[in-house]
Amino acid sequence: MASEGKTTTISNLASVMAELNKNILLIDLDLRKPTVHKQFNLSNRAGLTDLLMHKDDYVGYIQNVHPGLDVITSGKIPANPTEVINSNAIKELIKKLSGQYDYIFLDTPPLVLVSDPLTIATYSDAVILTIAHSETEKEVIRRSIDSLKQVNANIIGTILNKMPVSKHNKYYYSYY
Ligand SMILES: Nc1ncnc2c1ncn2[C@@H]1O[C@H](COP(=O)(O)OP(=O)(O)O)[C@@H](O)[C@H]1O
Ligand SMILES: [Mg+2]
Repeated sequence: MASEGKTTTISNLASVMAELNKNILLIDLDLRKPTVHKQFNLSNRAGLTDLLMHKDDYVGYIQNVHPGLDVITSGKIPANPTEVINSNAIKELIKKLSGQYDYIFLDTPPLVLVSDPLTIATYSDAVILTIAHSETEKEVIRRSIDSLKQVNANIIGTILNKMPVSKHNKYYYSYY
């Protein structure tokens, strides 16, 4: 769903992995409501969609955030996000880039709203599902997992976000 914390958690994960001396690239593949650039205060004047449109070398579109962490922002929101996400150009780009990094993280739009995440899963080695505590309905989670399985996605885990951790909350105890 929207606002579960996909962009927040993937940005944190990418940052932490970079601090663990891994070479990380984070690409904003939410071509509908891109916000990765906001997480890191980056310019989004030129990004992925511009790179694909101009058939440029990717080097000029990579922004370094801190040692080990590079970002490619979304670029201009295209009229046809689904086509862009489905294009051979994007698959070839990711294949080329995968030789340069230990891990590439791909941020996506919400799974239940559009097919983009399922398409992205087909060219990803692994998928992490973000779930917002007390917000995401079980039925929605089940449907999401089913549709990911249908495209043979390799779901390696979930992130349970927005979990209350106050001492006075029962979840605090169950967590421990
Ligand atoms: N664990 C959290 N606690 C509080 N606020 C959060 C948490 N995770 C995300 N948010 C906030 O929720 C909003 C949506 O998060 P975002 O990562 O953009 O969601 P998504 O990418 O799934 O749409 C943002 O304002 C973000 O700061
Ligand atoms: Mg997002």
